Amino acid sequence: MNKTIIVSNRLPLQVRIENDQIEVTPSVGGLATGLKSVHTEGNGLWVGWCGITEEELTPELETKISEAVTKAQCVSVNLTQRDLDHYYYGFSNRTLWPLFHYFIEYTEYNPESWDVYKSVNQKFADKVLEHVEEGDNIWIQDYQLLLVPAMVKAKRPDISIGFFNHIPFPSYEIFRTFPKRKELLEGMLGADLIGFHTYDYERHFLSSVKRILSMDVSFNKITYQNRIIKVDSFPMGIDYEKFESAALDHDKMAESEKSEIQKRLDQHLQNEEGIKMILSIDRMDYTKGIPNRIKAFEYFLRKYPQFQEKIRLIMLAVPSRSQVPQYQRLKQETDELVGRINGEYSTVSWTPIWYFYRALPFENLIDLYTSSDVALITPVRDGMNLVAKEYVATRTRQDGVLVLSEMAGASIEMNEALLINPFNFEEIADSIKQALEMPKAEQKQRMQALQNRVSRYSVKKWASEFMNSLNQVHKVYNVIEAE
Ligand code: ADP
Ligand code: G6P
Repeated sequence: MNKTIIVSNRLPLQVRIENDQIEVTPSVGGLATGLKSVHTEGNGLWVGWCGITEEELTPELETKISEAVTKAQCVSVNLTQRDLDHYYYGFSNRTLWPLFHYFIEYTEYNPESWDVYKSVNQKFADKVLEHVEEGDNIWIQDYQLLLVPAMVKAKRPDISIGFFNHIPFPSYEIFRTFPKRKELLEGMLGADLIGFHTYDYERHFLSSVKRILSMDVSFNKITYQNRIIKVDSFPMGIDYEKFESAALDHDKMAESEKSEIQKRLDQHLQNEEGIKMILSIDRMDYTKGIPNRIKAFEYFLRKYPQFQEKIRLIMLAVPSRSQVPQYQRLKQETDELVGRINGEYSTVSWTPIWYFYRALPFENLIDLYTSSDVALITPVRDGMNLVAKEYVATRTRQDGVLVLSEMAGASIEMNEALLINPFNFEEIADSIKQALEMPKAEQKQRMQALQNRVSRYSVKKWASEFMNSLNQVHKVYNVIEAE
């Protein structure tokens, strides 16, 4: 039976070693959480890194990890510490991530990291080639693996290859500044279908292909090495039913089944009558606009002092890429801002910001989503942003307001949210006020429209549309070959 091989830097499960034992936890981030539900349904295989370097492995640990990984229908690619330093922390997250998110001043170029990026991409390609069989599809994910499509295509031109970029693709004027611009595009063009979350990212990519590679691009098709490559946009969705049914179960929960966080939230809601919760959830990443959000929240407290002691910002940030200096500085800046604002505005019975810096289990995410009156999502640049969609899916009573940055890919499909420019503090403050004062009927009207759209285009639909399109492109390619 044919299978789909998903290839991504991170496997959907991450292994940690504690006292010579392995601990397996789910991966955080839109790519892993989104694709997991697709992978567990089919007869697929997932190739990626499990979170442990070769140096940390002993033969016993290797056996245990391999058992855990195989059980989850995954195959692990072994990386050394040097690989990790140059390929993951280096080229992927000090170079490509900032470049593609328009943080050109953060973009470093180190030739050694580029060499390691190439060799690690080859490791991933080799692992895929070991497992691929005739008739399989390969679906390669994201910026860490831009060269893998061409590496696999060189050895197996018969296999259909899809590539999906989960982050923005920058405009040509940004992309053209990068020394290895040509090599990156040629790597991606090994795929038969290249997908982006939005039409704008697709347009930027096609424009770079046209202008940097001087290639023939007609509408969204590229003719390259006697093949037709299709480029298209597929906005990624979430596992809507999973979030909706978790929220419904949450509503029915007996007191004894509630989590500590939920009990605490309930207590505060009861004690502090009328207090409203504003929620933000993201990885601790400079693209998420965390300092802007906190400053805008402070501006709101100053501009509308009548809301002091009546609202609270619950800010959940999950640690991410903490060896990269910009992430360390962001953490420090966030700690300082939260500390300063809490110090300045707190009263004996009220703290304006509750700040958690950790990953939380799914149940607690549901506690937070369902207990919040407003979700405040303010990235300065974001490929999609699944948190916005998850919030909507959990609002089973069709109340709550989403305040969303227009710089998130998700904003294209979420017009009924209060859309804001994350650099405009006044607009954010006014939108928070509008959200807090919005009549229930309007909340319902907006939420219903959002839910209709988000539920219709779920992650399963996203994946099946991508795979159907890949099969069609591949057929066309076969026809050209046959002619
Ligand atoms: P990104 O992919 O840039 O991290 P997304 O919003 O698209 O951003 O996806 C983030 C995913 O990670 C969501 O599915 C969200 O539920 C999950 N997540 C975010 N923060 C946490 C956290 N603190 N604990 C657990 N899961 C989290
Ligand atoms: C984003 C990227 C993913 C990445 C995730 C978490 O969603 O598009 O490729 O896996 O962030 O980041 P990390 O570096 O921890 O894998």
